[in-house]
Amino acid sequence: MRGIAGLAALALGLAPGIAAWAEPLPFGVEPFIHHRDPPFFRALDDAERARAELGHEVLNTHWVPAGTPHAERRDGVGPLFNVDSCDECHNEAAHGRGPMGDGLAPFALEIHLAEPPVPRTETRCDPVYGCVFNPVALRGVRPEGQVVIHYREIVGRYSDGSRWTLRAPSYDLVDLGYGPLAPQTIIEPRLAPAIFGDGLLEAVPISAIVGGAPGTTGSTGAQQPLGLPAWQWRHGARVLGRFGWQGSAVSIRDQTTRAFAHEMGLTSSVITRDDCTAAETACLEQPNGGSPEVSDTLLDAAVDFQSWLAVPASPQAPAGGGGEGRALFVELGCAACHRPQLPVELRAANGDLIRHTIEPYTDLRLHDLGMALADRNVAGVKVQTRWRTAPLWGLGYRLKRESSPTFLHDGRARSVAEAILWHGGEARGAQRRFERLQASQRQALLLWLGTL
Ligand code: HEC
Ligand code: HEC
Repeated sequence: MRGIAGLAALALGLAPGIAAWAEPLPFGVEPFIHHRDPPFFRALDDAERARAELGHEVLNTHWVPAGTPHAERRDGVGPLFNVDSCDECHNEAAHGRGPMGDGLAPFALEIHLAEPPVPRTETRCDPVYGCVFNPVALRGVRPEGQVVIHYREIVGRYSDGSRWTLRAPSYDLVDLGYGPLAPQTIIEPRLAPAIFGDGLLEAVPISAIVGGAPGTTGSTGAQQPLGLPAWQWRHGARVLGRFGWQGSAVSIRDQTTRAFAHEMGLTSSVITRDDCTAAETACLEQPNGGSPEVSDTLLDAAVDFQSWLAVPASPQAPAGGGGEGRALFVELGCAACHRPQLPVELRAANGDLIRHTIEPYTDLRLHDLGMALADRNVAGVKVQTRWRTAPLWGLGYRLKRESSPTFLHDGRARSVAEAILWHGGEARGAQRRFERLQASQRQALLLWLGTL
């Protein structure tokens, strides 16, 4: 089923500023006519629409300090936090604004602090600074510090002689408010990804991600197979991580409650403590905005809103069907990880199971893309890092809408070509084949990627 907005735009053929789509859009993909009013991938009934509107409002709410008059249960932000609303990082559910150059990191590029080994559980964060480095604090509490980025230029050439440059980042945590970080703590720079289509990714059956790998589908403690995000136990069932750059969150609800707690200092019925550690006494002593600070009504609405969001159609229709670019994508080996299609199983209002196929261009699995992309610990030692294949749907929308889009987990890539050039490790072969393309083939591939 296609949402109303999609049908209307297709019937019109041409909406202002939007190209006509030669082919029917994949399931879940809709034209985003007004970016402040993102469409849903299915029709919502009146009650659902009201919840979606409330959820949308929750993501746009600027939370205020505990005890602010007339806060109407939207108080309790901090004491330590990054920003006061989801929207600061995920502007209208879209990708966060990445770093432009040297200097202070933008809000949407945050630092997670993890204790090895990763994948980790909630408790394995820095003993003093907690799970997310919080550069902002309420009055009377010291911020944890600031994040400064330095880039070093790397220059190279494609086989056809044309030049490319990449910027290799390093991150300094300065003005530390609570003494040194633990030397083994891993510094994980992470840029806010888009939220669009997450409800569809959540509906991909585990069997489609795991494939036929032996010993992975049972409920007994089978070995974690390489390339699969962490299994986690939730309500007596084993679930697979699938959100975040490393697939560390198992659901939209999981990611949302973590964001409330760690990035915004807001407790919920799921995560009842914010990110203050025992060492951060001033943080612990501040009043809170209730227990929990985010009511279940607001939390549920925020989760529902996100789960129904459609994926933005590219404003760029494929010229001539994009055949050459698509074929190169497969030939180079990109499609092995960026899987064009995945099945989804959704529940209809009457409980019926509805099956569809989505085109997210991810396998929702983890891959080693080489040490050049790996995180470092506080002592400066690189630690092997495995990444969830980034979904490529919505790429065309990003390229059109953002003035300076950045790519990869820390926004180091300033173009799609740079993102591909950074691929190493398991993707080394694909990257080499990309470097050896002729300029016209490279253009065809990049043009086609812009139609996703
Ligand atoms: C300070 C910036 C920041 C704020 C505020 C923030 N996020 Fe995020 N968000 C991120 C980053 C960074 C990630 C990637 C996390 C990772 O890789 O582990 C992320 C990931 C997500 C994802 C998973 C997306 C995907 O497909 O992998 C969802 C959903 C999400 N955030 C929802 C929210 C909601 C809801 C809020 C408000 C309650 C929120 N975020 C607040 C930065 C932020
Ligand atoms: C071995 C698996 C693998 C292969 C092969 C692979 N990729 Fe990726 N790709 C990834 C992973 C994992 C990421 C996320 C890495 C990160 O953010 O650090 C990614 C990220 C990207 C991004 C950035 C997306 C974003 O939202 O920032 C683009 C673009 C991309 N890949 C395109 C390609 C193309 C084109 C090819 C073929 C030339 C390719 N990839 C081959 C796994 C792969």
